Amino acid sequence: STHVTSARGAAQVLVASNRGPVSYAVQEDGSLRAKRGGGGLVSGLSAIGPDAGALWVCSALSDGDREAVARGVGEDGVRMLPIPAEVHADAYNGVANSVLWFVHHMLYQTPLEPVFDAGFWRQWENYGRYNRAFAEALADEAAEGAAVLVQDYHLTLVPGLLRKLRPDLRIGHFSHTPWAPVDYFRMLPDRVATEVLEGMLGADRLGFLTRRWADAFTACATKLAGGLGGTQVGVHGLGADAEFLRARSHEPDVEERIEALRAEIGPAPSGEPRRTIVRVDRTELSKNIVRGLLAYRQLLADHPEWHERVAHVAFAYPSRQDLAVYRDYTAEVQRVADGINAEYGTPTWTPVVLHVKDDFARSLAAYRIADVALVNPVRDGMNLVAKEVPIVSDEGCALVLSREAGAHEELAEDALVVNPYDILDTAQALHTALLMPQPERAERSKRLSAAATALPPKQWFLDQLNALTA
Ligand code: G6P
Repeated sequence: STHVTSARGAAQVLVASNRGPVSYAVQEDGSLRAKRGGGGLVSGLSAIGPDAGALWVCSALSDGDREAVARGVGEDGVRMLPIPAEVHADAYNGVANSVLWFVHHMLYQTPLEPVFDAGFWRQWENYGRYNRAFAEALADEAAEGAAVLVQDYHLTLVPGLLRKLRPDLRIGHFSHTPWAPVDYFRMLPDRVATEVLEGMLGADRLGFLTRRWADAFTACATKLAGGLGGTQVGVHGLGADAEFLRARSHEPDVEERIEALRAEIGPAPSGEPRRTIVRVDRTELSKNIVRGLLAYRQLLADHPEWHERVAHVAFAYPSRQDLAVYRDYTAEVQRVADGINAEYGTPTWTPVVLHVKDDFARSLAAYRIADVALVNPVRDGMNLVAKEVPIVSDEGCALVLSREAGAHEELAEDALVVNPYDILDTAQALHTALLMPQPERAERSKRLSAAATALPPKQWFLDQLNALTA
């Protein structure tokens, strides 16, 4: 071999992702406060823990993160890359979140978007720089023959780049998003489509959350990149971490929030607690929060018998607020929720209880008291909320689930399945869910929990590692 083994790093297993397990905020007194990262990727990978001996390479996302890197503060087993702010902004906000995310979730309003102009090509160059920074750091840290698990659409070029730097490594890539159908994917400029596919095909193995997304990738590779070459494609349906969720959701802070939430929701005229329709999401365009609210409004219009007896508890946590369309969407969610409260609310009843401040303990409190969970994305890689609620719910919860969520592939049998664009269909499903007798809800929740925990995060990770190193 021509490799200089003495220059190799020590890590046998490496994970790479844009968002790491923690991010830092600078406090007023100049100290740093660590906060858990959000989203499905972090929930899935956090279960691995530092004891697994993996090195997690991620980017420093905020000023606090960059400070932490500069001061040498950090978690064990995590290396944060201080990518220059402009490079990160172009790669993350520009290419990853405004282009690749939009393509895979089919979010463009195509008469006007996308526009691939000179500004895009500058962003694309910075996406290349950003991916190279990861590839170089991984090349630097990996031991001879190590396994590297690259995550998501931010890092599609890494497998190809890393393969050139370190042909000795076993390289995997996992997509936490859907994959676009060929006709949609090829809206990307040809060179971009090819470079993304070829970058990913630099991996030994590609992982997807469902068969549907794996097949869509294979179709793109076949049509636009001459096939899969030697790259394997596998499906790993990330499940929820039941043990962690059950324990965490019975901590005192969650009990406190249940009290507070019950008080805020208030009792029905009968004195019984009001029925609750719960949703918890990042305020994310693909989560379809506005149509969810419209369906709830339709329910109230069609079924006055629910007035004063139901509340829609909607938690919509800020996400990607650097992007104007996310800010606009956040405002629209608030506007529609306010509109429903103005139209139907009474001095004793607030029909929509909307919270926008991220609070994990309060999310778990809502899961516990939920009678109905509403998960209606227009397109979603998996959606872990659909898997978490049945596990955590105290008395069993009916699940209204979009057929476009990856979770649908595993949960369809015991969910009330909806077309997420169809407001009347969704309203009808909410009504059916509210009427579902408690014993049936409990039965279904039990079966949903079993399906939701079929592949817990640790096993999900180990399966990929084993498949990669086999
Ligand atoms: C999705 C993506 C993840 C991402 C998460 C949160 O789950 O697949 O890669 O980390 O959303 O989004 P953010 O932009 O805040 O990292």
